[in-house]
Amino acid sequence: MSTKNMGGLESPDMASHDSPGHETSYTPVFTGDVRKELDTLLTRYPTKMAALLPALWIIQREHGWVSENGMAEVAEVLDLTPAYVKGVVTFYTMYHQHPVGKYFIQVCTTSPCGVCGAEDVVKAFLQQTKAGELGVTSPDNKYTVIEVECLGACGFATPIMINEEFIESVTPDSVSTILARLP
Ligand code: FES
Repeated sequence: MSTKNMGGLESPDMASHDSPGHETSYTPVFTGDVRKELDTLLTRYPTKMAALLPALWIIQREHGWVSENGMAEVAEVLDLTPAYVKGVVTFYTMYHQHPVGKYFIQVCTTSPCGVCGAEDVVKAFLQQTKAGELGVTSPDNKYTVIEVECLGACGFATPIMINEEFIESVTPDSVSTILARLP
């Protein structure tokens, strides 16, 4: 899956936090039980390098995004160079390179969904979450909304993803109901 508005994920102005990729302090992830989780994971792969994608997922799960420090930690535990890890992180759009809201909302606006009103769904999310702009995190840090390319449900416009949850046939009118049920 690719994002349409990657500037929103990379521009300092579009995040509600400090400069992207950097943080004032960093808590290592691979300690205690998470280290054991990684060790178990490594038994399933032929090389440490092969476990790079799931290791990055663990970093993102624990911190909500993958910072430069997170990349460095992964590089260290997998015996890779930070540059190699960064190359992978920047290639895959599902890794967040700056903090995002608790709910990361992806809306398909590719043509088939576009002609069915996807842009109005995007507007409804931006207004009702108070994020205001694509890629910007809402003032309460709960929501980040982006547009993405085809989510593979073209017959069910407009499909969206909220974190791992896939929701079809979203309309501007259903946005408030969807947001209301988020804890
Ligand atoms: S174009 Fe929107 S899901 Fe395919």
